[in-house]
Amino acid sequence: MKNFSQNDIISIRDLSKDNLEEIYSKTNEIIEMKAEERREIARGKTLGYLFFEPSTRTRLSFQSAMALLGGTSFGIADATSSSVQKGESLADTVRIMSGYTDAIVLRHSLDGSSKFAAEVSSKPIINAGSGTEEHPTQAIQDLYTIKKELGKIDGKNIGIVGDLKYGRTVYSLLYGLSNYDVNVHLISPESLKIRSDSTYNLKENLSYTESENLDEYIEDLDVLYVTRIQKERFPDEEEYVKVKGSYVIGQDVVNKMKDDSILLHPLPRIDEISTDVDSSKQAKYFQQAEYGKFTRAAILSLLLQ
Ligand code: NCD
Repeated sequence: MKNFSQNDIISIRDLSKDNLEEIYSKTNEIIEMKAEERREIARGKTLGYLFFEPSTRTRLSFQSAMALLGGTSFGIADATSSSVQKGESLADTVRIMSGYTDAIVLRHSLDGSSKFAAEVSSKPIINAGSGTEEHPTQAIQDLYTIKKELGKIDGKNIGIVGDLKYGRTVYSLLYGLSNYDVNVHLISPESLKIRSDSTYNLKENLSYTESENLDEYIEDLDVLYVTRIQKERFPDEEEYVKVKGSYVIGQDVVNKMKDDSILLHPLPRIDEISTDVDSSKQAKYFQQAEYGKFTRAAILSLLLQ
């Protein structure tokens, strides 16, 4: 992508390394700015959100980012309160929203939903989660967190554990990481390994190992990125029950981690990280969520210019 202005963000693959670096710099710039300066950035602009799946952080961080920039946001947080409930199509809903706003953030359970919305929308679409496919703004926030907390991304050992099959944040993160020189260790139960049909040319650009055993890598990791088992995406509840609770990061696991390593999670967590770990030095997931407000403000400011 040459520049962000008025462009859709559907996949993190649309963004070059320069684009990513531009977002990190813009994020730092926004954090440093005076509040009244920030409020000029999107003054008079509106962001529409269409969330057809539950969300806490993504929607609220987009809303708080827009407020930070002096703009307004409104939308649908629950499909049952919109005319979708009466049978209105996604295409019509997006078309209507694009007439009311300057950009649209969309979350939907179907793969391809954001790409489809971008085809019918007259305003830029930001993918806030499309089925099991991607969640690019989460990955941008994850990459920013690594850079901010560890100083750089290059050269780091990154473990990603949990539901690698259905977790859309994983695919966006892997594609984002493929811009850097990193060692990635993918750790999951056999049945939740990454989908080879969704990793296209990833192998050419990223070196990664696949294993079921976190213990093999834990002592060498700079980053441990934990994901939730995506219960709602399993075609069969029995299959979920088999892998539920496969990896639980407790203080015993954190004790094996390097002193200056970080523990991340896109959240929500269910039982993958015990709450007693929250006060450990490595636990950065709440900080990561807060960075999401600023990285999204950076994305919006670049997109709406
Ligand atoms: C993620 C998602 O929706 O994919 N949530 C988020 O946006 N932070 C992760 C998840 O639901 O497990």
